[in-house]
Amino acid sequence: MSYMVNSSSTMLSKGEKYQEVIRDVLAVLDGEPDVTARMATCVSLLNQAFDAWFWTGFYVVDKVKKAAGIDELVVGPYNGTLGCLRIAFGRGVCGAAAATRTTQVVPDVHQFSDHIACDSRSNSEIVVPVFDKNGELIAVFDSDSESFGTYDDEDAANLKKLMAAVFSI
Ligand code: SME
Repeated sequence: MSYMVNSSSTMLSKGEKYQEVIRDVLAVLDGEPDVTARMATCVSLLNQAFDAWFWTGFYVVDKVKKAAGIDELVVGPYNGTLGCLRIAFGRGVCGAAAATRTTQVVPDVHQFSDHIACDSRSNSEIVVPVFDKNGELIAVFDSDSESFGTYDDEDAANLKKLMAAVFSI
C-alpha cells in the first residue's frame, strides 16, 4: 500500500483531520507488531496533520526501572526540539498522566505548577496515557504547542481513540 500526505488537509476541520490521521495510521500499521514502529508512525502522521504542534512524541514506561520498583518514563520516538530524557511518575504533565492514568489537557502550561519546560516556546500541552491490550500503562503520548489553548476535549477524545486502536494489540 502507499501513503500520500493529503495536501488539502489544512482545509479540514479538526475532527475531519483526526478521522484522516486515524484511518491513515491504521492503514500504514496493518500487520506491523513492533511498538516502536507504531509510535514513530503516530508521531509522523500526527505531526504532519497539525501545524500548531511543535513537539509530538512518546514517553515510554522504563521496564528495567519498573522491575526494580521505580516508576519512570524515558523518552521514545518524537518529533521536535530536544526533549528531556527521563520523567518520574508524578512529575510534570507527563508524570501526572502516567501516575493518574488520565489525560491531561493543559490550556496554559504556565498555570500548571509542576510543568517541565523542555522548550520555553511551549504554551499549551496535552498528554494521553497509552495502554496495551492487558490494560497495562506502556507510555504516554505528549504534544506541545506554541499557542495557548490548542488542545481541547475533541483532541483528548480522538487521541484516546487513536492510542487505543494502535496499542491495544
Ligand atoms: N512538558 C512536559 C515535559 C515533556 S516536554 O514537553 C517534551 C511535562 O511537563 O511533562
